[in-house]
Amino acid sequence: MMIQSVFQDEQELLKAVIEVHSAEGIDLDPMYFKGNFYKQIPKPKMIYDINPQVDECQQADATKLPINSNSIKSMILDPPFMFGIHGKTKSYYSSATHGIFKDFIELEDLYKGILKEAHRVLQKKGILIFKCQDYTDSKTTMVHSFVWLWGIQQGFYPKDLAILWLPKNKVYNPNLKQRHLRKTHSYFWIFEKSTAPVVTLNPTDSTFPTEKAINMDLTATASPTPKCPSDTSLNPNIIKSNFEFILQDGSNS
Ligand SMILES: C[S@@+](CC[C@H](N)C(=O)[O-])C[C@H]1O[C@@H](n2cnc3c(N)ncnc32)[C@H](O)[C@@H]1O
Repeated sequence: MMIQSVFQDEQELLKAVIEVHSAEGIDLDPMYFKGNFYKQIPKPKMIYDINPQVDECQQADATKLPINSNSIKSMILDPPFMFGIHGKTKSYYSSATHGIFKDFIELEDLYKGILKEAHRVLQKKGILIFKCQDYTDSKTTMVHSFVWLWGIQQGFYPKDLAILWLPKNKVYNPNLKQRHLRKTHSYFWIFEKSTAPVVTLNPTDSTFPTEKAINMDLTATASPTPKCPSDTSLNPNIIKSNFEFILQDGSNS
């Protein structure tokens, strides 16, 4: 039977991703929590969490793992995704819960840090599964698009994408006008550690990924000299408009 990309059961999604992309299973989960991913798939050999909840899990920061470089074949990341809930909590990311970011900048810092560390510990062509979801508080931020961007900047090839659709009967007030579509899905990016030089996302630069490069093969437009992109190498207009989109869409969810 052909394996498709949208699932209503997380275990089925993980089984499919492993079958297609990582036949030997997942070696490392450094954001393990209680291990809810491993109801029907084998537990990784290495499991860590910054705030371990179960005895089998060791304490470590996913941005500074006690693991040799280029040593892991596959791993999964499932970071917290909520941020900026306007004083409704005192338990921000930096507190003991490590659950909710104060703002998008805190989320960006952690996501870039874990992508960088994943790129360090993975072998050439190693697989990273990255779970993420878009977030609506009073405004919507398309977090999965940023993860795609930051993954490419870090030197990953976005090889595939699976979607988990979990419609829930959320409580809502029918008297209020709905301003955004209710998000009932999450994304699992499947990144491969690229062997090609890292591309920049400046359209005037020769390493800017063309549609072909993004979809098929990052080596297609790679410059012979490896380039390390920084935010200053990005097109400021694109970045500015992204942030304006996030910051100025002040409508209700
Ligand atoms: C969304 S939960 C993971 C849920 C897990 N996949 C499961 O299914 O049970 C996110 C986890 O990341 C952990 N975490 C947050 N920041 C971390 C960091 N810098 N290093 C390692 N773990 C971190 C949190 O403590 C939390 O347990």
